[in-house]
Amino acid sequence: MCGIFGYANYGIPVSQHAILRTLLTGLRRLEYRGYDSAGLALDGASIDDQTVETLIQSSLTKPRSLSNHVGIAHTRWATHGAPSVINSHPHVSDADAQFVVVHNGIITNFKPLKEMLLSKGYHFDSETDTEVIAKLLKYLYETVREPDARLTFPRLVMHLMHAIDGAYALLLRSTAYPNELVACKVGSPLVLGLKPATHEEIIKEGSKANFFFSSDASALVEHTDKVVYFEDNDIAHISNEGELQMFNFGDPATRAITSNRSIATLDMELEQIMKGSYPHFMLKEIYEQPDSLTQTMRGRVISHDSSPDDVSRNHRGDVHLGGLSQRIGDFRRSSRIIFVACGTSFHSCLAGRQVMEELTELPVSIELASDFLDRETPLFRSDVCVFVSQSGETADTLEALRYAKKCQALTVGVVNVVGSSIARLTDCGVHLNAGAEIGVASTKAYTSQILVLIIIALQLSADSRAKQGRRREIHDALLTLPNLVTKTLKDLDGRMKGIAERLKENTSILLFGRGFHYATCMEGALKIKELSYIHTEGIHAGELKHGPLALIDENMPVILFAGKDACSGKVQNALHQVTARGGIANMLIVGTEGDSEIEKFSDKVELVQVPKTVDCLQCVLAIIPMQLLSYHLAVARGLNVDQPRSLAKSVTVQ
Ligand code: F6R
Repeated sequence: MCGIFGYANYGIPVSQHAILRTLLTGLRRLEYRGYDSAGLALDGASIDDQTVETLIQSSLTKPRSLSNHVGIAHTRWATHGAPSVINSHPHVSDADAQFVVVHNGIITNFKPLKEMLLSKGYHFDSETDTEVIAKLLKYLYETVREPDARLTFPRLVMHLMHAIDGAYALLLRSTAYPNELVACKVGSPLVLGLKPATHEEIIKEGSKANFFFSSDASALVEHTDKVVYFEDNDIAHISNEGELQMFNFGDPATRAITSNRSIATLDMELEQIMKGSYPHFMLKEIYEQPDSLTQTMRGRVISHDSSPDDVSRNHRGDVHLGGLSQRIGDFRRSSRIIFVACGTSFHSCLAGRQVMEELTELPVSIELASDFLDRETPLFRSDVCVFVSQSGETADTLEALRYAKKCQALTVGVVNVVGSSIARLTDCGVHLNAGAEIGVASTKAYTSQILVLIIIALQLSADSRAKQGRRREIHDALLTLPNLVTKTLKDLDGRMKGIAERLKENTSILLFGRGFHYATCMEGALKIKELSYIHTEGIHAGELKHGPLALIDENMPVILFAGKDACSGKVQNALHQVTARGGIANMLIVGTEGDSEIEKFSDKVELVQVPKTVDCLQCVLAIIPMQLLSYHLAVARGLNVDQPRSLAKSVTVQ
């Protein structure tokens, strides 16, 4: 976790205040990655979050224009060491801050390194692994002698990278190398934004480029759309003159060879990362779902009457996934499909599995990435592993992907963030195209993930005659889904707000579902617990009688998901079991419009109904009241909706 942001200005001189503002805006954009503390360093000065405000004000009264400005900043999600000013980044090598570092990731061998440095007389202030980097840089600077050249900043960093293990993206500054900046990464994400001076600026002002470094491209979009995604072992060096060079030290044989990283163009608008008129990102993202789902389907789920000049006209009334088209044969020859993910993304796999099994007739298993790695699950070349991740950077999922590649399985990414590590490392894949998701609690990415998995299942079964009727039913329901989501939002937002008011003082809520709604009860429980801090459990309704029934009495709030599908009868059994233990007194049923069996209970329970669609898409509609409920519970309890405690958007540590 954590977010790092750097700015190196070699363009038209600007005030220190303007540089600070750029760093702080960068931090704000990355805040979702961790919000335990923040800090920044500029021109050798290290500034923690408490002094940032003062500094801005003093530089406002005394603006200074310097020809070069290099600043680095950090927002923290605590791993080693509690949230505190002392543990905040940047970390420095000594009292003079000769070397200054911000770090996203984890240094796994920091203990032996720290012991070595302590034995050499270095003093540590913080409990973090990161402080080792700053001290080690100083130690290497003082001890390493290059045989035939001066020890340059990037060469020094190369020595550092040989000494440290783990995952890291680093931004490094030093008074020994004034106005230079070095960035490098292994494992953790890092993107470089390039804003070259215009021709006019070069002629008139002798201006050169501005460089931005960020853990995530969303913090770059307001500065430039030209970016370079770092690969593992890449080192970027900006010289005192503002010249950029990139090296890759991964392969010892090709050490120090300038790499030719291509410049990508970001396809992201600033509005996507702004709240607009919404009080919270989460609410904005919940309401964006009709549009995000439409974007997920654009060019992939082709209507029957798409225009004749449509590039997709060959796929009218069907689906088309360009990102998979070259690998369909490999999929078909495979012996099983394994979905691998964490958290909400794992729940989307739960939701998509049944259709995948039904349409492909292949065994489909679902793995929590962490457990998959713990077990070193046996994998074969004939396996297809699908890695589902909003951020594309989740460390557990990324490690599982590396493991699957080692086992030579076909790897497929279902990822939202373009250019992310999982998107780049997988053999093929499908982007969610849901737009930037900033709220820490995932909402629109979840519903888009379900859609993508279902579209993959449709694509893989395109040649199966026996499945055509079912495929058409799902295809047509997909096209009407965004309108049903709009209706659900309109009908239920006010209702869920009222229900949140009634539930807000509870300490525990149980959620039951099965079939396509097993995922809904699991995801509903996760949303409520992470936002409201109320204890919740998502429980398969078939498991009720194997233990959880003991928890049911007239005081226990219960939420039951009742689809009108093959499981309806069994869900009603669960309803009767809960009723017999008094659980009906405090029950909310999320049902389907027109389900007369469930409507019979409407005078005894709180009944919320979502529109009817095909069974496998019902979970997309039924999760919406849960997203709204968790949102309103957090607001009613006065909690931070977009930044729930102890969480971060992108979990880049294992
Ligand atoms: C919960 C949530 C998390 C993520 C999980 C995986 O609302 O967002 O459970 O789903 O950390 O993240 P990604 O999808 O980025 O791999």
